[in-house]
Amino acid sequence: MNNILTAAYPWLKALHIIAVIAWMAGLLYLPRLYVYHADAPRGSNRAAMLEIMERRLLYGIMAPAMVMTYAFGALLAATPGVVDWHRGWIWAKLAIVALLTMFHLLLAHWRRDFAAGKITHSSRFYRVINELPTIMMIAIVLLVVVKPF
Ligand code: HEM
Repeated sequence: MNNILTAAYPWLKALHIIAVIAWMAGLLYLPRLYVYHADAPRGSNRAAMLEIMERRLLYGIMAPAMVMTYAFGALLAATPGVVDWHRGWIWAKLAIVALLTMFHLLLAHWRRDFAAGKITHSSRFYRVINELPTIMMIAIVLLVVVKPF
């Protein structure tokens, strides 16, 4: 098993990065759709179209991409010699991944509110929280590539 993981390492990393890009694309774009949705009149054609776009993005792209990110990340972490668990970067990274996952779940929660015709927050709120996944993504990439501690 360890030999297979070591041989597959570049492929696992490539698939991990592909999944990360798809997940991040959704985490960055879905709050943007909420900015438009929060300003769309209730029951309008625009609101109905945004609801379809939000559902497809969340369940068609983001949820599978998140599962793939976790699956390939776990296989990378299980590959001998890839992670030194005494270093800090991997734990800091996993903590930020937990925050990104919470952000994903909050977006799913707000999507259900929109689908039920409830507008939970203002467009300004969604515009501000739209910055959070960018900051988390930058921190994760610096941690995994620079491994500063
Ligand atoms: C449970 C979730 C995750 C786990 C267990 C995990 C684990 C790992 C591991 C073990 C590596 C290999 C590190 C190395 O070769 O030195 C890796 C690489 C990488 N991860 Fe993750 N990861 C997860 C989620 C994420 C997320 C959410 C992002 C970005 C937002 C991300 C971005 C990256 C990148 C860019 C690399 C390539 C770094 C390099 O070139 O060495 N990962 N991940």
